[in-house]
Amino acid sequence: MGEQKVLVTGGAGYIGSHACKALKQAGFTPVTFDNLVTGWRDAVKFGPFERGDLINKSDVDRVFEEHAPVAVMHFAALSQVGESMQEPGLYWRNNVMGSLNLIQAAVEYGCIDFVFSSTCATYGDQDGVVLDEDSSQHPINAYGASKRAVENILADFRTAYRMNHVIFRYFNVAGADPEAEVGEFHQPETHLIPLILDAVDGKRDALTIFGTDYDTPDGTCIRDYVHVCDLVDVHVLGLKWLQVGRGSRVFNLGTGDGFSVREVIDQAGHVTNRPVPIVEGARRPGDCTKLVSGSSRAVSELGWSAGRSNMKQMITDAWRWHQNGAYTK
Ligand code: UFG
Repeated sequence: MGEQKVLVTGGAGYIGSHACKALKQAGFTPVTFDNLVTGWRDAVKFGPFERGDLINKSDVDRVFEEHAPVAVMHFAALSQVGESMQEPGLYWRNNVMGSLNLIQAAVEYGCIDFVFSSTCATYGDQDGVVLDEDSSQHPINAYGASKRAVENILADFRTAYRMNHVIFRYFNVAGADPEAEVGEFHQPETHLIPLILDAVDGKRDALTIFGTDYDTPDGTCIRDYVHVCDLVDVHVLGLKWLQVGRGSRVFNLGTGDGFSVREVIDQAGHVTNRPVPIVEGARRPGDCTKLVSGSSRAVSELGWSAGRSNMKQMITDAWRWHQNGAYTK
């Protein structure tokens, strides 16, 4: 078989850049499509780069015409829960309208295998409920709502055009490429582990814990953390699953283990062997108390193994990247 190009939207971002590396290693050619609003040109290392914006359908058409991809992996999105509460219009425009342009173009060009990056934030705050793929979705922030809307678009396009999709609902993604070719680099940074590492090495004064009065054993929020390399590996498995005509399916990507904010801070102290300066602060609007996956469907049906997704490994890899890696515009 000849070269198989995969269109990777958001390929210059954190998860997308790791996906490009995994795709390349699996024999595909990742074509990155990114507007570089939150992504980095330096992160595009494993295939061609096309700068464009999903909001402009003509940009999207151009990349399909030029590269004739066999499949799409769609990562491009705004992804900050807090920002989505303040500026919901940004999220509906960018994440939903942009995705609609992409999905529409994919159908028009006969590119019917589509992998979509969704989120556990589509479930919302369902205390005590085991979150599996059939759980109801009640997002409590505009970010989660925008991702759920795209899931709904994909379901309708499947019915109308037999376009197949794999929807991955991520829990919290962490860690970095162990070779530190790519890593997590957001500006501004809002994610817990990189912020802890900034506090450890003095790039910021302290890590503020957002809320210590949650109904959890230590009062801080609980999340299910997945190593970015495990996460992107299962995207390749999902793509191959689509390519052999298995249909359309939703998969949670989490390990089922929950870590509180304080537990993550403790582990970071151990891994870096340094104190983590902390400040206890107020809750952040839009945060759920607990998000932990209650499904192993990706393991049983795709043969996924999340072997690197233990907290020590994720912080170790994030710390290595943190000390060596940075992108510039
Ligand atoms: N947190 C702090 N202090 C900080 C930053 C975060 O206490 O300075 C806490 C948050 O309140 C939360 C936990 O650390 O309880 C994790 O926060 P992140 O911002 O790292 O991650 P989120 O859980 O808010 O969001 C992430 C991704 C989203 C994704 C979501 C799913 O950013 O894209 O997980 O819930 F959708």
